[in-house]
Amino acid sequence: MAEGGRSATAIARPPRPPAVGLRRAFAALLPLPRTGPSPAAAMSTLLINQERYAWLRELGLQEENPGVYNGRWGAAGRCGIPAPKRGEIVRQIGDALRQKIKVLGSLVSLEMGKIFVEGVGEVQEYVDVCDYAVGLSRMIGGPILPSERPGHALIEQWNPVGLVGVITAFNFPVAVYGWNSAIAMICGNASIISGMKLIIAKVLEDNKLPGAICSLVCGGADIGTAMAKDERMDLLSFTGSTKVGKQVALMVQERFGRSLLELGGNNAIIVFEDADLNLVIPSALFAAVGTAGQRCTTARRLFLHESIHDEVVTKLAKAYAQVRIGDPWDSDTLYGPLHTKEAVKMFLDAVEQAKQQGGSVVCGGKVINRPGNYVEPTIVTGLPHNAPIVHTETFAPILYVLKFKEEEEVFAWNNEVKQGLSSSIFTKDLGRIFRWLGPKGSDCGIVNVNIPTSGAEIGGAFGGEKHTGGGRESGSDSWKLYMRRSTCTINYSKDLPLAQGIKFQ
Ligand code: UN1
Repeated sequence: MAEGGRSATAIARPPRPPAVGLRRAFAALLPLPRTGPSPAAAMSTLLINQERYAWLRELGLQEENPGVYNGRWGAAGRCGIPAPKRGEIVRQIGDALRQKIKVLGSLVSLEMGKIFVEGVGEVQEYVDVCDYAVGLSRMIGGPILPSERPGHALIEQWNPVGLVGVITAFNFPVAVYGWNSAIAMICGNASIISGMKLIIAKVLEDNKLPGAICSLVCGGADIGTAMAKDERMDLLSFTGSTKVGKQVALMVQERFGRSLLELGGNNAIIVFEDADLNLVIPSALFAAVGTAGQRCTTARRLFLHESIHDEVVTKLAKAYAQVRIGDPWDSDTLYGPLHTKEAVKMFLDAVEQAKQQGGSVVCGGKVINRPGNYVEPTIVTGLPHNAPIVHTETFAPILYVLKFKEEEEVFAWNNEVKQGLSSSIFTKDLGRIFRWLGPKGSDCGIVNVNIPTSGAEIGGAFGGEKHTGGGRESGSDSWKLYMRRSTCTINYSKDLPLAQGIKFQ
């Protein structure tokens, strides 16, 4: 904030400094330090000046990219423009993103290391949520309730909260921002984002609105703390680790602000004896290995019924062996690097602990000898369901495969971890499916059947319970979190009857 929003990196799930390969990207994306090398000296290291990365200019990026933060975060908030008109602006943002979807997808891949199709996929999530928000902009509203008093109307009115802060995580820099920003905008809020953008400011300015309605600040814990403590930040939406989320929540609560938290996950897939293994193997592969295990919805625990345990492990290990590991930009690649060196260290520590706690590494477990933060996608069997490492979220591609006998015990094991984000079962038993969805089933925010734990659509509310933070973003009625509700009673009669029949005379 002190530097006019020109510092680097946001609060993120694991510790952050950019990975090998990503430093180059940051050289292109971040402003030059005020007291650093002269522009001429730095130019040779900037990606933007290299032919291979010339496409970065298509996004309007230059050698210096000071962001959109204008030195104040007082963008008015509580917009007076009617909601459908706000929706029209969000529609234009969605269209602008559509036009650049491939370049933006490339940028996500370059910055974060996820494969290109997943990079494009997350920009698609932003496009989808824009479409969703456009429709919503003509539908948000409150009920007219029956008043007990004659000649009175009781109505619910929803107004914008004002200023929404969004702290996004490294692993979904576009989608998470999009979920928050598109919904916050149609609700009439201004937002400060600790994360991405330039395209949005242009759309706003083309509509003769200040770009600062949607301001960007890149920064570390200092910026996050300033946002959490600032009384003007009516709502702070935070995506990241449970540890940092707790600090943010306490700081916001201390000033009676509102927070929306999307924190860690320790997601399980449960495979019953009647499951269709043609669905199970690709689902477990995508959920555990996709994005190199760096989604909050990544499957980390795979519970297999004892009767199919060995068969599934063999088939899955075969599928793991075929995963094409390589440069995330190569269209043939399915699996890229981890985000940071710290993540590699966390991966190795977790594999070591799993071994110490009785686990056997069926495949993977090692660092891959090539430039970048590559580790082998890993399967560990033989651990008890309550081994400490199984209850720890390691943001890396390690899948703990666990054996079970009964539905009741495995539903309890699904729920026994601190986190409560996503969960899936594979079965054809209708009774079991409804028990899974019901009060004695999964306690997670996302409860799936015959699909992976990851890859949720934007139309549903996204988030989870317990140490996952309880927040809901994106679809369904998540918009209510970005607004404040007023209960309005209007007397249109000439009398003054009091509620509860009280006579005060
Ligand atoms: C995240 O990892 O924080 O459901 C978001 C999914 C994606 C979003 C993940 N649509 O896997």
